[in-house]
Parts: sequence; structure tokens; C-alpha cells
Amino acid sequence: MSENARHPFLSGLSKHRGAHPTVLVIFGASGDLTKRKLIPALYNLGVDNLLPSDFKFIGFGRKPIPNDEFRSFAKESTSNFSRRKLNSDVWNRIESNTEYLSGNYDDLEAYRKLHDRIHEIEKEHDRQFQLLFYISTPPSVFEPIITNLGVSKLSRHGQSSGLKPKVVIEKPFGKDLESARELNQIIRNQFDEDQVYRIDHYLGKETVQDLLVQRFANSIFEPIWNREYVKCVQITVAEQLGVGTRAGYYDQSGALRDMIQNHTMQLLSLTAMEPPVSLAPESIRDEKVKVLKAIQPLELRRDAGDAVRAHYREGLIEGERVPGYKEEDNVPPGSTTETYAALRLFINNWRWKGVPFYLRSGKRMAHRVSEIAIQFKRPPGILFSEGNRFDLSHNVMVIRVQPDEGVTLLLNSKIPGLETRTQPVKMHFNYSTTYGSNTPEAYERLILDAMVGDSTLFIRGDETEESWRIITPVLDYWKESRNQGLETYSAGSWGPLAAERLLWDLKDEWRRPSA
Ligand code: NDP
Ligand code: BG6
Repeated sequence: MSENARHPFLSGLSKHRGAHPTVLVIFGASGDLTKRKLIPALYNLGVDNLLPSDFKFIGFGRKPIPNDEFRSFAKESTSNFSRRKLNSDVWNRIESNTEYLSGNYDDLEAYRKLHDRIHEIEKEHDRQFQLLFYISTPPSVFEPIITNLGVSKLSRHGQSSGLKPKVVIEKPFGKDLESARELNQIIRNQFDEDQVYRIDHYLGKETVQDLLVQRFANSIFEPIWNREYVKCVQITVAEQLGVGTRAGYYDQSGALRDMIQNHTMQLLSLTAMEPPVSLAPESIRDEKVKVLKAIQPLELRRDAGDAVRAHYREGLIEGERVPGYKEEDNVPPGSTTETYAALRLFINNWRWKGVPFYLRSGKRMAHRVSEIAIQFKRPPGILFSEGNRFDLSHNVMVIRVQPDEGVTLLLNSKIPGLETRTQPVKMHFNYSTTYGSNTPEAYERLILDAMVGDSTLFIRGDETEESWRIITPVLDYWKESRNQGLETYSAGSWGPLAAERLLWDLKDEWRRPSA
């Protein structure tokens, strides 16, 4: 059996074959995300024969770029960033359906031009296409794009024949609760909620989807997935990369907005939510919103609060010296932006009352690791409790989101020998050993889902507002405190020492996962 045929994810995707003829328009088509992720994702969907039989890709941007030049850019992006080698037959099919249109994002005339071009395509093919708009620009132009899609009626194109256009909106979705509400309102003025796909690419990751399966397709976890058995949950999204060339964006954002508000909060809600009544998108999203609503406001105090922030100093990554955050290109010298944030959250509901959820994310950390670690309470200390003879650990279930995707259970076991001594051991399920290593990238799944109208792995408007409700007071508090309480950590470390205090109540410490 071929690797692809055995892969449950791919057989799941094959259900999506036969999406309606589609024109995909990417705004911000010359950008970093389009180049590294979106175009390679289209190519890989082409390889798997998952693009609609009639498919057109229009890149849209401010710079005038001839079609040929844009096609070369797209081909080079695919060669450089695709997970699979370029196959010329597949590529030629995509290339011959790729074109570029230039215009300013706030110029209504440009949208009229786009509308005319779409009419022409429909005439050439003698059929109606569904429209999928992907907004992959900096957030400063989300608003004019959404508004102009509405005013030009592109947002309603084909609606009378039951083909509602769809719009995918990149993150960050606002910069605080107020701006997220405003953006939601701008969207609602032009689109219905079922046309809107707010993206968080973590939801497209294989292991994140598997979280639902692990939790709800196995009967052994549910009885212990609660305050009776769970001591705490640690969610880590650590990167080795620094701010790179993105300081212009990142210095305005920081780790809390860039990673915690979206990616780690999504991991938390999938870990902690109640079982949904069905796998319908709305049922899952309802449960995610419910659990976010139950999160208590954080305590914000300088030395003992629920939030810690820091930025990296110079240090060593894989033996190479790297500069500190404030020495990076385009970072203002007095910057107080955090590149690391850690929070302690409590969910005030029946299942989780009193169980701390620790969230952390940082750049220039020791390793690139994203994981969810559920730490269980110790057994009653009756049988194996005599001093140091027994090295009893907590049972921990670790869901490794990336890299080296898998699930590990830490158990105590007897060391072979005449004496009874114990040691923690690992039961391990590894994705690549079981399913092969060529798993689809998150953006492949998400673009395809948007194309076929499945919003399960996208974020609803109220969900993003709930997440900002929790995060915004922290942002406000840090803004008021300026650099007071802003810690530092060496690049290549596991973050600031101050973050350890979040776990002192439990006499615990942050995990130090290996690469
Ligand atoms: P870029 O900075 O590369 O910008 C994308 C495109 O938008 C540019 O090529 C440019 O196209 C246009 N653009 C850039 N600046 C402006 C501006 N000030 N006003 C109007 N248009 C502008 O962004 P990315 O591709 O990195 O990111 C796109 C979106 O995706 C952002 O919302 C980002 O937060 C999100 N994202 C990005 C990730 C990444 O790894 N890059 C990861 C996750 C999310 P042109 O000049 O042709 O108009
Ligand atoms: C993006 C952030 O959303 O996620 C980046 O803007 C970060 O700063 C990236 O590097 C991490 O994504 P991944 O998939 O590499 O873990």
C-alpha cells in the first residue's frame, strides 16, 4: 500500500475532491507568506489532485508585475519552499491558470477591474466560478480590502446561484479587544459570518487536529481529564528563530499578540473544551468559546502576578552567537517589546476549577518545540513512598505538536533486578514512524477547507473576541508598566528565571523538552 493511501489525513482530504470551480485571489501576492506557504500549498494540492478541475489563481498587489514575471516568482517559490519536488506537469497546469493584477488596496477602481476579469474568465469557461479571497497583507490594509470587496459587490458575486464568495483573513485579527470588535463589525458590514474564514494556521497542523481524535475517539482519557486527576497543564510554543526581517511588524506586536492570543489559546481551548455535541463546525466552535468564557481574569502584580514577559539577550543558538533583540535590525534601541510571554490561567468551570494552565511562547529559545503536557496527580503515597528509594514521577501525557510529532505517556516502572526500584519510562507514538513523514502542511488543509466551505478549523468572530478579552488587560498593564517587570533571557535558553515563579505554588517547574 502506498504511503499516501495509508495516511488517514490524505484519505480524509480526498473527500474534498471536486470542489466547485474556483477563482482564488490572494491580496499581498508578492509577500513572504504567499511565497513561503500559500503558493507551495497550492502546488501540493495540485499534486494530490485536490484542486477543482477549473481553477484560476489571481495574485493581487500594488506593484505592477507582468504575468510572466509573477509566474516565475510563483515557480521559484514552489521550488524553494514546497515539501515535494517540482513536477513539471503539475506545475504547468497551475502556471497556465495563474495571473497577476495590480492596484491599490484602497482604490475601488482596482476592484472593478478585478470584477471585470472574473466576468471574462466565466465567459471564457462558460460557467460560474466561486470566489475565494485570501487577505495576506499587513493588517493595516485588511479594512480597505474588506470594504472594497463589499462596495464593488465582489462579496456577493454568484450569490444568486448559491455560490457565496468566501474570504480568508490572516492574523493578527486586531491588536486588542476593541480593534478586534471593530474589525468584526467591518467584516459583518460586507460579509455573512458563513463567508468568513479567520485563519490560525496552528489549527491546520496535523497534531492539533489529532488532539480532538485523541480526546474523543478514545475512552480512556475522558474519565481522568479533569480537576480530580490533572495537576496542571503546560502549553509551550517555543521557537529558535529570532525576529529575523520582521522587526517592523514584530516590535509593534510582541509574543503575547503574535503567538499567545492566537496559537497557544487555540491549543488551550482544544485541550480544555467539553465534548462537542457533534463534529459540525458550529458545535466545536461553541465549545471553544464556552471554555474561553470560563477563563478567569488574570492577576496582574509586579512580583507575584499571573504574567511574565521578557526579551532575549545575545546568546548561543546551536553553538552560534546571535544578537540580542534590541540589537536586531530595525528594532528601536529603547524597545520594551516582549519576545517571550508566559501566563498562568485558571478555568472557572466544573471540570477545571483550581487546575493551573501554564502557557508560554518565546523566540530564540533552546529548541523549536510546540507541545501540550498534561501532568497528572501523584498516586496516594502508600505503597511506593519510602524516601528516595522510589523515584516516583508524575504521569505526564505530552502531545508533541512539532517537530517530531507524536504522543508520549510518562509512566513509572520497575527497574529490572532483585530490588524494587522505580524509574519513569516513556510510552511513545511517533507520527512519522506510523504514518510516514510527508504530512501535508497546515496551509494545504486550510486553503482546501475554505474552498469547500468547511469552517471547522477556522476561528469564529466571538472566539477571537473572547481570547482578546483575556489578553487585553495584560497588554494594558504592560504598557502602563513600561519597562518595569520586563525581564531578559539569553538567546538559546528556556526563557527568564522569573517565569519559574508562576509554578512555585505547585512546587513545580517548566518542562525542558528536548529537540
Ligand atoms: P509582507 O510584509 O510580506 O506583506 C505582504 C504584501 O502586502 C507585500 O508583498 C506587499 O505587497 C503588501 N504590503 C506590504 N506592506 C504594505 C503596506 N504597508 N501597505 C499595503 N500593502 C503592503 O507580509 P507577510 O506575507 O509576511 O504576511 C502577510 C499576512 O500574513 C500578515 O497579516 C501576517 O501577519 C500573516 N502571517 C504571516 C506569516 C509569515 O510567516 N510571513 C505567518 C503567519 C501569519 P504589494 O507591495 O505587492 O502590494
Ligand atoms: C506566526 C508568527 O503566526 O507563527 C511567527 O507570526 C511565528 O512569529 C510563526 O514564527 C510560527 O509558526 P510555526 O508554524 O513555524 O510554528
